[in-house]
Amino acid sequence: MKQVQIPTVSSAQGVQIPAIGFGTSQLGDCSEIVAKALELGYRHIDTAWKYGSEKGVGAGLRASGVPREQIFLTTKVSHEYLRADDFARSVDESLRNLQVDYVDLLHVHWPTIDNIPLAETMAALAKAKREGKTRHIGVANFNIALVEEAMRLSPEPLVTLQAEYHPYLDQSKVLAGCRRLGLVFTAYCPLARGRLFNDAVIGEIARKKEKTIAQIALRWLMQQGNVAAIPRSANPRHMAESLQVFDFDLTGDEMSRISALKRPDGRIANPKGRAPAWD
Ligand SMILES: NC(=O)c1ccc[n+]([C@@H]2O[C@H](COP(=O)([O-])OP(=O)(O)OC[C@H]3O[C@@H](n4cnc5c(N)ncnc54)[C@H](OP(=O)(O)O)[C@@H]3O)[C@@H](O)[C@H]2O)c1
Repeated sequence: MKQVQIPTVSSAQGVQIPAIGFGTSQLGDCSEIVAKALELGYRHIDTAWKYGSEKGVGAGLRASGVPREQIFLTTKVSHEYLRADDFARSVDESLRNLQVDYVDLLHVHWPTIDNIPLAETMAALAKAKREGKTRHIGVANFNIALVEEAMRLSPEPLVTLQAEYHPYLDQSKVLAGCRRLGLVFTAYCPLARGRLFNDAVIGEIARKKEKTIAQIALRWLMQQGNVAAIPRSANPRHMAESLQVFDFDLTGDEMSRISALKRPDGRIANPKGRAPAWD
């Protein structure tokens, strides 16, 4: 299959993030899968200390032979390590796991628990950037009020908010907040972990367009402008398919029909004691 040129999504600061990335949670030792993803054309890889996939990602990057500078690599510091000293140790461990000198994007994975001041965590995140351990910084799973507080407290600009987003979850407030703040909205669980695959409306649109349900769901995200998505797959056919979402358009009516699928119980990732009051 022909390699796809993946477009980028830009933050207000002009930071370019490949619009489709490759998610690596729940993949375990994923070195072969990551090397395959890179062979297929993925250039944005999403991992986290918490996933236990960093070593596999690092081995996959090396095995692929793709030059480091062509890859947009993201990792995240877990909520247990948001004190300054713990944070710095966690970043160093992630770099060792990944066998790289720097990542392209470093996230706070979930907002703080245990009353750790957000100012301390944001200073630690900015310090990692100033020390050259990450090129850019962002936050994940923050509500918009927390993002604004993080931006006020951070000595360095944020480029993205990573949060759950798919047709079953209404994220209109978060999307509007990201646009207002100049952030890329990086959509995780973009395929609702498979829950979309029997959807009648998306299925009908997919048949009409001769695309799959996954491609329609990803295209719906892509057409929102400032959204990137990071689907995860262990199946090379699915991995390739998720990159083929830039050769067709959804009409305004199709976009609206998919947006109308939002459900009150659509959220998947909602860990007790860690999740903020969602927007
Ligand atoms: N920041 C956070 O707190 C957070 C939370 C959750 C996830 N994430 C990130 O987001 C990534 C994606 O989210 P996710 O892994 O939860 O779920 P997801 O990407 O919404 O769904 C993954 C599921 O979709 C299937 N799939 C993928 N592509 C497909 C295709 N083209 N056709 C058919 N099936 C397809 C996969 O099965 P096959 O393997 O069979 O293809 C897998 O079962 C994660 O891996 C992680 O990197 C971040």
